[in-house]
Amino acid sequence: MRTEPYQTWLITGASSGLGKAIAAAALTVNHRVIGTTRDVEKAESSYPEFASDGGIWVCLDPAQHDAYERFSEVAVDYNVDVLVNSAGYAFIGAVEDTSEEEIRAQMEVNFYGPLRAARACLPIMREKGSGHIILISSGAGIIARPARSTYAASKFGIEAIHESLSQEVKPFGIKVLIVEPGAFRTPFPGRQVFPSGDGLEKGYSNVYKDTPVEEMMALSKDMDAATKWIKGDPEKAARALVVAVDNGYAGYGFLRMPLGRDCVRVLEEKIAALQADLEATREVAMGTDVDVDEE
Ligand SMILES: NC(=O)c1ccc[n+]([C@@H]2O[C@H](COP(=O)([O-])OP(=O)(O)OC[C@H]3O[C@@H](n4cnc5c(N)ncnc54)[C@H](OP(=O)(O)O)[C@@H]3O)[C@@H](O)[C@H]2O)c1
Repeated sequence: MRTEPYQTWLITGASSGLGKAIAAAALTVNHRVIGTTRDVEKAESSYPEFASDGGIWVCLDPAQHDAYERFSEVAVDYNVDVLVNSAGYAFIGAVEDTSEEEIRAQMEVNFYGPLRAARACLPIMREKGSGHIILISSGAGIIARPARSTYAASKFGIEAIHESLSQEVKPFGIKVLIVEPGAFRTPFPGRQVFPSGDGLEKGYSNVYKDTPVEEMMALSKDMDAATKWIKGDPEKAARALVVAVDNGYAGYGFLRMPLGRDCVRVLEEKIAALQADLEATREVAMGTDVDVDEE
């Protein structure tokens, strides 16, 4: 067991679910952990052991426009080595039923929030010639199910940033990891947000009755069923992540790390769908370059 804190981890959304489990796993192996929350008092009551185990709460909402400046102060003040962006929520609703405001709100939290934190940590990591930028994405970062377009768009978008970033910062010794959890047993399903416009009391407009939208809405809202079909164990996920970082796998051996059997299936389904599309269109695609003798 190490006696000194080994690395300083900055974890957003450390008050609950996966962020909380990752904080606990990092503290257990003696890392120093800075946890962000929008409400320190609430965080202290939902995770009282955090402070007694040495964790430090910082009141910070990644969705606010000044979050970049706040993250920059934290990155420098605590000399952050590992950033884990976990804060997030899911908006569930059909494309047609979702307002631009609802999409923007989702993007502020799931897209701009992690982007602000990552950009703020990069200068200090570059200076040190080391660091880890870890995104808690989702299976929805690679597959977009019905009624999950907005959530998936936020995760696809922020995954693209990290995929590109991983190549940009490799020369500086900074490693990037995209974690894609399947369904995990956290308070997350109870915090989903649904369309709120007129005629959307059920979460979808009547035209989507008896369609995959209604089906997904029923699945998303059935909390009793969720406790049975959701199989992911946040503590196991957190330990897997800490081991990946501590052993230096993250960012070099692989970029994406699915977690949970359901997410392994999601990745297989997506790869097969991409392959099938490519086979169906390869001939067309190969015929659209300029003819060599035209050049
Ligand atoms: N659980 C799953 O099944 C699952 C599956 C795939 C991906 N994920 C991803 O895993 C991450 C963590 O989810 P979780 O399961 O740990 O959920 P959770 O238990 O609900 O925790 C989410 C955390 O995010 C913060 N947060 C929530 N809404 C926010 C908002 N509107 N603005 C700013 N911060 C907000 C909260 O922090 P404060 O309230 O303390 O500020 C909370 O600590 C999310 O990015 C989620 O997309 C979860």
